[in-house]
This record gives sequence, structure tokens and C-alpha cells, in this order.
Amino acid sequence: MTAASADLGRIDLAGHDRYAYAVPYADFDRLRREDPVHWHPEQSGPGFWAVMRYDDVVAVSRDTATYSSETGAVALEDLDADAINARKSMIDTDPPRHAQLRRLVTADFTRRRIALRADEVRQVASTVLARTIPAGTFDAVEQIATAVPIRVLLRILGIPSADEELMIRLGDRLIAGTDPDLGDEGTGDDRYRLLPFRSPAALEMREYSGWFRDAARRRADDTSLLARLASEQIGGEALSQADYDAMFLLLIVAGNETTRSALALGIEALARHPDQWLRLRVGADLDAATEEILRWTTPLHHFRRTATRDVVLRGRAIRAGDKVVVWYTSANRDEDVFPDPYRFDVTRNPNPQISFGLGGPHRCLGEHLARLEIKTVLAELLSRVSRLELAGPPRRIRSNFTNGLKVLPVRVEPVH
Ligand code: HEM
Repeated sequence: MTAASADLGRIDLAGHDRYAYAVPYADFDRLRREDPVHWHPEQSGPGFWAVMRYDDVVAVSRDTATYSSETGAVALEDLDADAINARKSMIDTDPPRHAQLRRLVTADFTRRRIALRADEVRQVASTVLARTIPAGTFDAVEQIATAVPIRVLLRILGIPSADEELMIRLGDRLIAGTDPDLGDEGTGDDRYRLLPFRSPAALEMREYSGWFRDAARRRADDTSLLARLASEQIGGEALSQADYDAMFLLLIVAGNETTRSALALGIEALARHPDQWLRLRVGADLDAATEEILRWTTPLHHFRRTATRDVVLRGRAIRAGDKVVVWYTSANRDEDVFPDPYRFDVTRNPNPQISFGLGGPHRCLGEHLARLEIKTVLAELLSRVSRLELAGPPRRIRSNFTNGLKVLPVRVEPVH
């Protein structure tokens, strides 16, 4: 082993503390350059292959027969077979089962259907910003990034507005369990081993989804997504309660925290790059800006697959059963795809950002919704704010998975 490769062996992409103050981009860069399919040992696990280059991330995502989402689920953390089964949602399945589940929810998230929601999303964003901006200085995570996505999502899913606050509280407790400021008390407790995120809030969410399904079955006129799903069938049989609960939880968690991160880190990026804010103020295209915010922020660092057979990837011999982790954060800074990748450029074009995954059947179900929310918040911000700047240091979520902020103090000068 050379001194250089021994040095690479000390890179730690898995420790949550590595992400508490900054994303370790320099490590991603080195690995992309020197060892793009890198064997990464783990302190409490068998180790994993870290896939760093854009093309390889796409290839792994596409080849579901070789790289399974089902065998070991998609979290980096290793779970027992019973925990995998108990938590399994659509994202942890392979074809053909995956297609059966995805078919149940896909129609509500097509580009066309989401475009019909534009007024609704604008109304939510506008209400939130009308309340927030006059304060001048505020926490943009709490006041904007957290406030918009969950409200939009709950409407699309068909959760009654009376239960909005409950869902917001449960959703917040479910996520970011690796951050002591945000996580749920159940993390690490064996009683919650079989629950998603090991979180007691998952239990409460399941109780709610059981109640919601019963109630929805009695309301034949409710055509919203989760109400329709209540009576859906797979292969001639009613969707099991476990599948219903898992889909319920997946939709709420996947559609909430990710968009929140994109909004929070996107606002931070604009505050740190006044030249780019100015370009938007003078009319730069908001669709291009949305793509650049998605690339720049990469709200989820990675997803995991498990090799189903021995395979060679970029010259590295991967064995059946090995964990293979695709790092979107690295792929979004791949200089072979994005010239000058560390330049935040709201006019970047082309911009094949990979934050939603790319190439495989699991590609994000909510991508059009997330884009609409980001673009709408941007438009509303631009119409109300002339100057945007940081009012204090942002605080990051301690997580190797979620790239997010828990606090973002900003100061704005309202448009007069
Ligand atoms: C900026 C916001 C978002 C980001 C960065 C994001 C990212 C991702 C990624 C990386 C995947 C996995 C892709 C793969 O394995 O190939 C995914 C899957 C998924 N996303 Fe999103 N997502 C976002 C917003 C949303 C929203 C708004 C929803 C709405 C419900 C949503 C629902 C889902 C679901 C259900 C899956 C699983 C799809 C499947 O297994 O077929 N996401 N997302």
C-alpha cells in the first residue's frame, strides 16, 4: 500500500460529526480523482463501496438487478432482516414489486398534475412570506424552509387541515434523529428498533395512518391521494396495512425534509452570493436557478444499494452482498459533468443535477413538486425582498445523510 492510498483509507464519510460544520467536499474531490469507487471501512459495520463519480452513480442506480434496494434496504446503517421487513417501504423494494407500489402513487406527481397545483403552492408561499418578511431579521429555516413544504404536501396528500400541526410535529421528530438538537428520544433505544428512524414518532404516525385509512374508507367521495390509496389493491388483494403505513410515512418524510433543505441551503447560497441574487433580481430565469439550487444543495448525500452478484465497477471487484453507496453530493460536483463545479451560477446551463437520483426506477417521485416549491418561494422572495444577507452563522444538521440546516439567521430589506 502506498502512503497516498493509506491516507485515503483515513477518509471518513460515514461519521455524522464530519457533516456538523461543513460538507467534507475536499474528501469527495480526492476520492473522485484518486479512487472513485473506494472501499470505505466502517467502525461498526462491514464497510462499503463509496461510488463518487456522476456516471457511476447513474450506472448503479440504473442496474437494479445488480444493485438491490431491497436486499439490505437503502440506508447506510445495517439492519437485521426483521427490522428491514418491518420498515420496508417502496423505496426499499426492487422491480417488479417496486413498480406495483409506485403505480399506486405516480399519477398525482406527474409534471402535468403538479403544474395544476401552481396557484395553491403560490398561495401557501405567499401567506408564509407575507407574515415573515416584514420582521426584517428572522430564522429562514423556521419561518420559510420548514413552513412551506409540509403545508403543500399535506394538501396534496389529503390530510385534513385540523391535523396539519400534528403531522408537522411528528414529521419533524421523525427526521434528523442523528442530531441531538432535533432527534427523537427513541433513537438507539431497542424498543424502537423495528421502527423507521428508530423513532417513537413513527409509532404515532402509524397509529394516525391506521385511523386515517379507516376513516377514508368510509368517505367514498374523498379523491385525494391517501384516501384513494386506502382502498387500493395489488394483484387483486387489498394493500396490506403495513404497506399502507409505510407509503404514508415515506410520502410525508420524503416530501418534507428534502425540500426544506433545498430551500434553506438555497437561501443561504443566495445570501452568500449577492451577485447571483442580483442576477435574479434583474430577471435571470427561475427554472435554471432552481436546478442550480438543487445541484448546489444536494439535500440527500447518498443512498445505499447491496450487490446481488460479483461485479466489476471501474476496475474494482465488488462482491455479492457488499454495500454500495452512491454519493449524490460528490456526483453534483463532478468536474467531468459540471465545469467549475464550485461556482454557484444561477444561469448554469446545461445542468443535469443529480439530486433526485437519475437513471433508475427509484428516481424521486416528488421532483416536479419540489421544483415547483423552490421556484415559487424564489419568485415570492424576489418580489418582496431587495437585499438578502446572513444575520449570523447558520447551524447545520449533524447527519451523514441529510444535508440540511437547523438555523439560518437572515436579514432582508423589503421591496418598497
Ligand atoms: C429537493 C427535494 C427532494 C430531493 C433532493 C429528493 C431526493 C430523492 C432521491 C435522491 C431519491 C432516491 C432516488 C433513487 O434512489 O434513485 C428520492 C426518492 C423519492 N422521493 Fe424524493 N426528493 C425530494 C423531494 C420529494 C418530494 C417533494 C416528494 C413528495 C412526496 C418525494 C418523494 C419521494 C419518494 C416517494 C421517493 C421514492 C421513490 C421510489 O422508490 O420509487 N421527494 N428522492
